[in-house]
Amino acid sequence: MNAYARPFPCDIAVNTESVVERGYDKVAQLYHRRRVSRFWTVAPDIEALVKRLAPGSAILDAGCGSGYIASILEAKGFKVTGIDISAGMLDLARANSPRSTFVKVDMKELDFPGGSFDGIVCFYSIFHNPRRYHPGILKGFRRILRPGGLLAIHMGWDDWVGTEENWLGGGARMYWSHYDRRRNLAMIQEAKFRVIQSRTSKQKDGTHLFVLAQR
Ligand SMILES: C[S@@+](CC[C@H](N)C(=O)[O-])C[C@H]1O[C@@H](n2cnc3c(N)ncnc32)[C@H](O)[C@@H]1O
Repeated sequence: MNAYARPFPCDIAVNTESVVERGYDKVAQLYHRRRVSRFWTVAPDIEALVKRLAPGSAILDAGCGSGYIASILEAKGFKVTGIDISAGMLDLARANSPRSTFVKVDMKELDFPGGSFDGIVCFYSIFHNPRRYHPGILKGFRRILRPGGLLAIHMGWDDWVGTEENWLGGGARMYWSHYDRRRNLAMIQEAKFRVIQSRTSKQKDGTHLFVLAQR
């Protein structure tokens, strides 16, 4: 968080869903430019997942953003379905990952049939949702993974709920909400995942928890 970030409950009346959706619509191009500049490092996190999946496996990219992660996965031959709540991000994702499928779906309301996916990537996105929803989102991920399927996810490192004005310098407000790493790991286990690895993901603009877990 930078100097403009501020914690709740200074503004609890905010409609967090529309802040996130409108925010990403507004900064979509900016976000993608920063993504392809490799400002955030994801290669080891992707590798941790893909080396354990069979070629051609079906992967859900939850909170797919501009399709950067999907483009890497589709280039490796995986069958990717991306979901996001921002139409602006989904437009970019379709352009950036033409062989993947993208739909406007909220990760809190997944209606894919049970066992649809071999893997799920949820990179830097669950924490844009109020944290009281995180246990339900994790249980939803478990339901749509096949037995033995894998979840690769970034979660919060510390306890934080708040907003930031002018995120990425794009004039948009953005919202985050997460528990700390201990509670996040406990939530993953409570959702009946087996943790394969968990580690610190240190980025230029913050520290996150990366977890690879198996259904
Ligand atoms: C920081 S971006 C990450 C994008 C991509 N995973 C990546 O690593 O480049 C977060 C994305 O999550 C999406 N998002 C946030 N909450 C969501 C929800 N409830 N359902 C689907 N997408 C969501 C946002 O719209 C945004 O595109």
